Amino acid sequence: MAYNENIKIGDLLNHEEAFAVLQKHLPQFVSEPTFKMASNFTLDQLVALPQVNIPLSTLEAIKNDLAPIGFVAEKTPQTHAAPSSRKNDASLEGKVIIVTGAGSGIGRASAVLMSARRAKLVLVDFNAVTGEETLELVRKNGGEAVFVQADVSRGEDVQNYIQKAIETYGKIDVAFNNAGILQKFQPFHEISEEEFSRVIDVNLKGIFFGMKYALQVMEKQGYGHIINTASTTAIRAEHSLAAYTASKHGVAGLTKAAAIEYVRKGIRINAICPGGVATTLTAAVPQSLQESGYVPEEFPNMRIGRYAEPEELAELVAFMASDGSSYMTGSIIVADGGLTL
Ligand SMILES: NC(=O)c1ccc[n+]([C@@H]2O[C@H](COP(=O)([O-])OP(=O)(O)OC[C@H]3O[C@@H](n4cnc5c(N)ncnc54)[C@H](O)[C@@H]3O)[C@@H](O)[C@H]2O)c1
Repeated sequence: MAYNENIKIGDLLNHEEAFAVLQKHLPQFVSEPTFKMASNFTLDQLVALPQVNIPLSTLEAIKNDLAPIGFVAEKTPQTHAAPSSRKNDASLEGKVIIVTGAGSGIGRASAVLMSARRAKLVLVDFNAVTGEETLELVRKNGGEAVFVQADVSRGEDVQNYIQKAIETYGKIDVAFNNAGILQKFQPFHEISEEEFSRVIDVNLKGIFFGMKYALQVMEKQGYGHIINTASTTAIRAEHSLAAYTASKHGVAGLTKAAAIEYVRKGIRINAICPGGVATTLTAAVPQSLQESGYVPEEFPNMRIGRYAEPEELAELVAFMASDGSSYMTGSIIVADGGLTL
């Protein structure tokens, strides 16, 4: 087949003679990443882009040089692989996944679901009793997992569970940094330094350590995916929860900053933002308010009319951990029953 105007830039870049023609006429441009990003465009579409400065005379000269070159005709129109021809993207078979905060709530529900989808898990929690319970649950259902007790706010503990993952399974596909704590509802000016540090240490520094030490492994591997649990308070403030809001805004910041740095290294980083989920964390709120005698002026409004079950968040986590999320990085994904609307 001779060159025609429907042939895509990607096909030209992958064709030795055609690539030589592009290199001759557009020497600097061909080595630029933007050129590869345009691989789905035709030459005419590329030249029509306002930010691309290729004179029409150059375009004509390229086409003239391409004219005698033979191309292999495509048998079927090459779109992205059709869903039916892709492997089962919901399956987590063969993936090694770390789950922090695995002893309760979103972490436990995610661990149970992801092990049912055949992931091998490294379960991490501060609380050894509830962590071991999750391990039991996973094993009872025929899943494969180990449990490591760790305080995510301590760098040595995080290094220890990362090491355990490598010793046990030899790789890390996904690190789900989920452990977190809620702050006491309080007016801003009454938050003690101690309370501020407690929340930041677990919710922000804990995520930082979980990312840093997973990234050290993933960078060597050349692949990996980090999923951080943020919150709707990563996007908008919640009344009387300044330290928690700051910690979760920080999680969104770490997620986006790392996503930019590692996007070309085969590593994706995303964050999920639950609204209100029925877990131990939210169950403790009424008693804590009663004890403090303080009532915030506003409470989160789940417009859907109910809290989420942790299993509903687990579905999102399992999807994110699968190859089905392959085009997502730096995403701050809201699952909040309409809270942020
Ligand atoms: N429940 C909600 O409404 C809600 C909403 C938005 C975001 N989140 C976030 O979801 C995540 C999970 O919360 P959850 O609702 O499942 O709470 P949860 O209290 O049921 O579970 C949290 C787990 O993290 C563990 N943990 C706490 N501090 C730890 C530490 N320093 N090191 C290791 N493990 C530690 C706890 O022992 C517990 O097992 C948290 O990051 C939380 O901020 C929860």
